[in-house]
Amino acid sequence: MGEIDLSVDLGRGLRLRSPVMVASGTFAYGFDAPAVDRTGLGAVVTKGTTLRPRHGNPPVRIAETPSGMLNAIGLQNPGVDHVVQAFAPVWARWDLPVIVNVAGDAVEDYVAIARRLDGVPGIAGLELNISCPNVEAGLQFGVDARLAGRLTQAVRQATSLPLMVKLTPNVTDLVAIARAIADAGADSLSAINTLVGMKIDVRHRRPVLENQVGGLSGPAIRPLAVRAVWEVASAVSIPVVGVGGIMTTEDALEFLLAGASAVQVGTANYVRPQAAREIRDGIATHLTEHGWSSLAALPLRAPAHV
Ligand SMILES: Cc1cc2nc3c(=O)[nH]c(=O)nc-3n(C[C@H](O)[C@H](O)[C@H](O)COP(=O)(O)O)c2cc1C
Repeated sequence: MGEIDLSVDLGRGLRLRSPVMVASGTFAYGFDAPAVDRTGLGAVVTKGTTLRPRHGNPPVRIAETPSGMLNAIGLQNPGVDHVVQAFAPVWARWDLPVIVNVAGDAVEDYVAIARRLDGVPGIAGLELNISCPNVEAGLQFGVDARLAGRLTQAVRQATSLPLMVKLTPNVTDLVAIARAIADAGADSLSAINTLVGMKIDVRHRRPVLENQVGGLSGPAIRPLAVRAVWEVASAVSIPVVGVGGIMTTEDALEFLLAGASAVQVGTANYVRPQAAREIRDGIATHLTEHGWSSLAALPLRAPAHV
């Protein structure tokens, strides 16, 4: 397996040695799972990071659902200054790219965070979480192609770091939004973030989550995520990273065949902290069994025929 080349290029110098990353919000800042062998990972994508620290929502913040989970963490994080001062110096010593997931309420927040992170050793790239409300328009950036494009362009001008923008599936026309983001200068797209869902405690006649609604993740959303990646990858020329319900090697291969250049593993980390590493090894085995030496050799069929 030593000769297999699993590396992927996500643009602007962001090269991963494996196509399997851990997804934002499911691996904190990379320090909480010391037993996990990081050498098998393509990258760590951090928890969503805001300008100032956030405590997040009060509990209950997580609920199990059939084939998945709902979460309403509310972007609990220590704020960008702490990330730069306390975390980045440690990441700079890791042999693994760390991509900081960025969240904000307004374009100015994202721009300020991007400026703060630009050129900081240990930070390999940004992933924009655009499923946050835009205060001015009262909309999420990610549900409006014009807003999503404007936000991407503003951040693009604020940083020379590789820029991945994460699509929210809670929209009617994902492709139009993906195109606007690609045209505005993003280096890659990730798809998808969670779907908004709700669970009700029938006995107590109240929502289970204190926030009432939360983001649905896990295997329940995988077919939606695969479809989203397939549509988006056919419409843009920048790399697309698939995320949503990946539990096994076969799940990850589905995304790669749908047109993804790489994948992120999220909810599976809660069940098997080594999931991303196992999936990486499974992809290597799959290539070996077929006699292929790199991901580029995967005979992807035209998406229309998948
Ligand atoms: C507990 C939890 C927290 C999350 N926090 C973030 C976040 O801060 N920023 C973000 O962009 N996505 C966040 N996500 C979404 C995941 O990164 C991923 O897009 C989603 O869960 C779908 O992948 P999965 O089914 O493999 O978990 C979070 C997901 C979970 C389960």
